[in-house]
Amino acid sequence: MVTNIGVIGCGNISSAYIKHSKQYENLFFKAFADLDSERAQAKAEEYGQGAVACTVEELLADPEITIVLNITIPNAHYSVAKAALMAGKSVYNEKPLTISKSEGKELLELAREKGLRVGGAPDTFLGAGIQTCRKIIEDGLIGFPVGATAFMMGHGHESWHPDPEFYYQVGGGPMFDMGPYYLTALVNLLGPINSVSGSTRISFPERTITSEKKFGKKVPVEVPTHVVGLLNFDNGAIGTIITSFDVWAHHMPCIEIYGSKGSLVVPDPNTFEGEVLLWTEEAREWQAIPLLEDRKFTGRSLGLADMAYAIENQREHRANGKLTYHVLEIMHAIHESAILDKTIALAPVMSGKPTPLFRDADLAK
Ligand SMILES: NC(=O)c1ccc[n+]([C@@H]2O[C@H](COP(=O)([O-])OP(=O)(O)OC[C@H]3O[C@@H](n4cnc5c(N)ncnc54)[C@H](O)[C@@H]3O)[C@@H](O)[C@H]2O)c1
Repeated sequence: MVTNIGVIGCGNISSAYIKHSKQYENLFFKAFADLDSERAQAKAEEYGQGAVACTVEELLADPEITIVLNITIPNAHYSVAKAALMAGKSVYNEKPLTISKSEGKELLELAREKGLRVGGAPDTFLGAGIQTCRKIIEDGLIGFPVGATAFMMGHGHESWHPDPEFYYQVGGGPMFDMGPYYLTALVNLLGPINSVSGSTRISFPERTITSEKKFGKKVPVEVPTHVVGLLNFDNGAIGTIITSFDVWAHHMPCIEIYGSKGSLVVPDPNTFEGEVLLWTEEAREWQAIPLLEDRKFTGRSLGLADMAYAIENQREHRANGKLTYHVLEIMHAIHESAILDKTIALAPVMSGKPTPLFRDADLAK
């Protein structure tokens, strides 16, 4: 069955969804809406296949649309998602789920009341790279997990993004921008996190846009841009994460997992594939591990296709609200811990286990 999708938000990331959605026979992007009608028109044309441009209100009133793909800016994620749920549509949000925890919780509760789905990005954890790592851990090749490190450090997005202001406003910052990839991967690999502590700073109170359209425009920085967290997993593993827009260069890997019998290098969680390296007590050297072979689906829209199949087959979707909310809660707790100078306990929203290993063949079931 083909599920009609209504796309709200036709900016930078929409082309990635348009391109990769075409891998899935169960997805049709029926309508595109944006506050900027020209953008909506351009994206409807880019998608082709009879897709239309319309207003948000028209899109939400279309009874044939089952899922709203909400790829607006973070500040609009909640209001657009709520309007979609109120209109009887399930919602797949870009990350982060919402800005505040109360908004996130409200969406989850509203979806539950109405029998609708909520969830969203990132879906990179469903890619062959992180799923291969998941299998290595599940097969016991690194023994029991002891710890993990995650590093996402750079100097922000104002050199390339045409409208980078939102990255420095409430809801932005490196943790809310990139943390979802890293934390979703870690939670998928090691299970839920029960408490965190953190330290944060703003190293540069003002940024200057150097991308073409707004070259020279000054942007005040409202949120921490160097964010360090300590993560206590339910399974006893201890993780460290640094997300930063204040670092020019570094040599750290994206994610590593350390176990009682070996170590694992996880590919960049902002990608669907990448190199997996394993070091074991027996081999005593790094070995490149081939990615799972029965995996071809890649790119943004995988989680959306899974949500559409899940609705059809009445099963839970993988990039689900509990997971996206857990990640939102972790990101907030890291910031809260920095302000309150104490460890923050997290509510047990997720069950104790990560989402089961995922293969392409599982998608349509
Ligand atoms: N740009 C990237 O590389 C990237 C990568 C991954 C995820 N994301 C996420 O995707 C989302 C969008 O990012 P982007 O880079 O495409 O942003 P963008 O600013 O390029 O585009 C956002 C679009 O949403 C529209 N919009 C805002 N509020 C709206 C509303 N209430 N109703 C309808 N339309 C509205 C804007 O007019 C704009 O066209 C963000 O949540 C971001 O975190 C972006």
